[in-house]
Amino acid sequence: MMVAPAVLSLLVSFTVLSVDATPKRSCPPPEDILPCVCSDDSLGLVLVCSGVKDEPELAQVFTANFPSSDFHELRILHDPMNLSHRLHSMEPSTLGEATFQRVNITGTQILSIDGKTFDKSKSTLQSLAFDGNRIYEFPLASLSSYTSLTTLLLANNILPRLQLVFSPFLKVLDVNGNRPLVVEEKAFENSPSLQKINLSNTSQQSLQRGLFAQLGQLHELDLSNNDLKELEEAAIVTAKPSLTYLDVSRNEISSISHDSIVGLATNATLVMEKNKITQLTQKSWQHIFDQLQQPYGIINLAGHSTVQKGFGFLRDRTVATEMTRPATSPVTSHHADPTRSVPRIHWSCGCDMAWIVLNKTYLALFTDTTTCASGERVIFLDPNIFTLMCPHV
Ligand SMILES: *[C@@H]1O[C@H](CO)[C@@H](O)[C@H](O)[C@H]1NC(C)=O
Ligand SMILES: *[C@@H]1O[C@H](CO)[C@@H](O)[C@H](O)[C@H]1NC(C)=O
Ligand SMILES: *[C@@H]1O[C@H](CO)[C@@H](O)[C@H](O)[C@H]1NC(C)=O
Ligand SMILES: *[C@@H]1O[C@H](CO)[C@@H](O)[C@H](O)[C@H]1NC(C)=O
Ligand SMILES: *[C@@H]1O[C@H](CO)[C@@H](O)[C@H](O)[C@H]1NC(C)=O
Ligand SMILES: *[C@@H]1O[C@H](CO)[C@@H](O)[C@H](O)[C@H]1NC(C)=O
Repeated sequence: MMVAPAVLSLLVSFTVLSVDATPKRSCPPPEDILPCVCSDDSLGLVLVCSGVKDEPELAQVFTANFPSSDFHELRILHDPMNLSHRLHSMEPSTLGEATFQRVNITGTQILSIDGKTFDKSKSTLQSLAFDGNRIYEFPLASLSSYTSLTTLLLANNILPRLQLVFSPFLKVLDVNGNRPLVVEEKAFENSPSLQKINLSNTSQQSLQRGLFAQLGQLHELDLSNNDLKELEEAAIVTAKPSLTYLDVSRNEISSISHDSIVGLATNATLVMEKNKITQLTQKSWQHIFDQLQQPYGIINLAGHSTVQKGFGFLRDRTVATEMTRPATSPVTSHHADPTRSVPRIHWSCGCDMAWIVLNKTYLALFTDTTTCASGERVIFLDPNIFTLMCPHV
């Protein structure tokens, strides 16, 4: 009868002991890792090494004796204009035995990343952020061994090519601001988990046919601020209708083909503002409209700033201005030709889009910022005028 409590108390003290014995994370003595600074935040140990000037100094820090070498984050934020910041590279040995879940290295002079630099963190790294360095070489092919890596940010570097992104795990890839960036034909063929790709401001002039065709989970694709002139067949096609945000604004797109965009979710936002689209023919556009649905599907075609030769009845017929109600003042483009009384047009809102105006389902998809050349908002166009003026409806 007396044995049980004794065993129990023994067990309890043993348990307490073993809890005490588990290594507790703790920062190294501050003087051992200067000029880096370690802190213990709620998620783990954070090592800020913005004070290091060059690679030898950084490598020196990682020769210190760390009580625990598992860090949550490594941060190096440099000022690219500061000449005393001369971190040009990271060698396979630079980070010693330390492991990280997140790395944020910004504004340094680093030119290339060696495939082995983060070897020790293969199973722990979740996010690698290298925005705003001078990286022209990155080991995309060795990503597949990083089994937890979901986010790779390489914006505003000088990468010339986006080669095969080899990772079954990667969800977010941001390469905006690397220009010009050549995106290889099969770049995304081996990265099936990608959900978000940012290719904004990378001087794309055209898109490889089927570039995104293997991706069945792609939610957000940003192709804004490029030099695309047209969207050809199969330019933006995903394996499933997964796209909830597609941005092709600020290009020079004047024409799109019937099957250029396939993969919009019904609640997608399609942003096409600031292109050179002048007509919305049923042949080219119906397929896009049919992928979207109210109440969440949205098409933003605001600010098509470029002038095209006249067409469409609103501009060709003098009655037009009286018929476009409410008569807001005409929007004149910056390039307006003062010798002509008719303002140069963004977008004629002519018979080419009667099929939209006469179908409430389609018309409701426009943002209220999408306007005709006359300044009139597309969503307020009067179907009766189109029935009256357009021969084939
Ligand atoms: C440049 O960086 C060094 C080292 O981090 C720092 O001491 C110095 O104040 C910086 N200079 C400027 C102009 O920011
Ligand atoms: C990296 O650090 C910069 C500067 O603090 C910050 O703006 C940025 O959001 C950080 N990136 C990530 C992915 O945490
Ligand atoms: C485009 O990227 C360059 C860096 O390559 C940057 O200087 C510029 O501000 C970016 N432009 C936009 C509109 O984001
Ligand atoms: C892509 O990068 C640009 C430039 O930083 C940014 O403005 C834009 O919001 C990003 N796109 C997405 C979908 O996050
Ligand atoms: C769109 O719908 C999907 C599911 O179909 C949902 O996961 C997502 O949150 C929705 N997105 C928006 C922006 O409403
Ligand atoms: C509008 O378009 C939808 C989708 O194609 C179609 O189902 C509907 O019948 C059309 N409505 C009219 C009035 O034409």
